[in-house]
Amino acid sequence: MAIRKIITLENDMLRKISKPVTKFDESLWDLLDDMKDTLIKSTGVGLAAIQVAVLKRIFVISVNNTYFEVINPKITFMSGTQTGQEGCLSIPGKQCKVTRPNKVTVEFYDRFGNPMTLTATDFMARAICHENDHLDGILYIDHVKPKN
Ligand code: CO
Repeated sequence: MAIRKIITLENDMLRKISKPVTKFDESLWDLLDDMKDTLIKSTGVGLAAIQVAVLKRIFVISVNNTYFEVINPKITFMSGTQTGQEGCLSIPGKQCKVTRPNKVTVEFYDRFGNPMTLTATDFMARAICHENDHLDGILYIDHVKPKN
């Protein structure tokens, strides 16, 4: 297990589309273990693989003493809206108000390749949407409307 370097906004890689995980093997588990260490050390809420320069559809989330690993996610349901402050480990020191769905259901795989479904609300739903966006090269600042 190791801490990996988190890439930041000036790195164009953050804009790339991540690729699905096809092998649920030891190299995946090493990556997931490193992502956990990196997230906990950074005291963040979530971390996508692309933020440690790995183009795979993976993110990890740590909210309210709940930690989980999400591989090849698909958001299958969204409802409501919520608006709140959001930040990103790849955009250090900044926060902005972002509107997100208030409730989401996500289908994904665990580290062993087992299919999972999770329904989340409030802050957890926000975190899932934020991390899921990273897999498509989208950053929270893209949702912030410019003030005219
Ligand atoms: Co982020």
